[in-house]
Amino acid sequence: MTIKIFDVGTKKEINKKIEEVKFEERENYLKGEHYMLKEILEQQETVKKATEQDEQKLLETAMEILRAKNVIFTACGTARYAAIIGRYLFSKIAKKFSEVIMAHEFQYFVDSVDKDTLVIAISQSGETADVLEGVKKAKENGAKIVSVTNVENSSLDRISDKIFFLNCGPEIAVASTKAFTGQLVVLYLLAFATIYKIQEGKIKLKEIGDKIKSIIDKDILKELSEKLKDKKDFYFIARGIDFAIASEGALKLKELSYAHAEGMPAGELKHGTLSLIEEGTTVIAICPKDYTYEETLNNALEAKSRGGFIIGVSDEGNEIFDVWIKIPKVDEIFYPLLTIIPLQLLAYYLAVAKGNNPDKPRNLAKSVTVK
Ligand code: AGP
Repeated sequence: MTIKIFDVGTKKEINKKIEEVKFEERENYLKGEHYMLKEILEQQETVKKATEQDEQKLLETAMEILRAKNVIFTACGTARYAAIIGRYLFSKIAKKFSEVIMAHEFQYFVDSVDKDTLVIAISQSGETADVLEGVKKAKENGAKIVSVTNVENSSLDRISDKIFFLNCGPEIAVASTKAFTGQLVVLYLLAFATIYKIQEGKIKLKEIGDKIKSIIDKDILKELSEKLKDKKDFYFIARGIDFAIASEGALKLKELSYAHAEGMPAGELKHGTLSLIEEGTTVIAICPKDYTYEETLNNALEAKSRGGFIIGVSDEGNEIFDVWIKIPKVDEIFYPLLTIIPLQLLAYYLAVAKGNNPDKPRNLAKSVTVK
């Protein structure tokens, strides 16, 4: 087959090198299930595979993170929620403040980007136009670009100074699941590298990977989805490191079930959203038994006293939960790798219960290559 590339403006042929990118045989990949479910269930492995990173590269990047005047994450959608967790990890473990900017807004901030800025771009596909645009502008201003992606030879791979691959195999379903956990693992490793604890980090992450299987209770989530399928609104609340999980849980649910869903820091509820809570409104409180537990519970109680139906995702039950989704106890910083799993399953089963195709939600593309 001959492939020719033309400039749309001048209509002239351009001389470009063509490379073939090989993916796994998709026919072998799917055996009668949705890709999304398969990808959710693969995450125990994803966590392990994503830990296979070059330690020297992790260390070098960690030193660059510590030395940089500004560290800026840029990403969209699910990848941005991974970045928000990365920001927490850098602060908690590396004691380094960083910022997260939505990729489509990044261009409006490039005036303050210079050679002392380190940009960490996260993109499953490595082809998201908004991410590429921001990265190019930052590069023009002299910033160093470190990227986290799942696709070798992607555009992001080609324009980055350093790249970390997720090693989790192609993600086919439009909703991102295993790439999210893979992205988190790379960010954990970078944070641990800043304190020279890569090995310790890898061991802990593998232990967490093993726990993922124990929390996959498909029956509870299937049953819950049947109960919730006619609900119009869902509010997800959490604090600290799990705030991004509330947002990611809401994103998964809205993109697949076409219901309205919002994720927010639990403390924000009383600053406006509380007025929307009425008899039967679903509130999902992600409240692991860490130092945020009591406060998140108090916020859930504010919703409960207005008639809210409370679903608690926690390692500790509480009488205010109408439904308790139990997760195992782990160290505070690792909860996101566990709390996200039932939320992905809930979104999946809700889509199925409503007759939607979870692999191909309406109006959405796997990779958004237009601005
Ligand atoms: C996730 O479920 C979405 N489909 C979407 O938000 C996605 O994460 C976003 O478009 C970013 O894609 P990327 O990671 O390929 O850049």
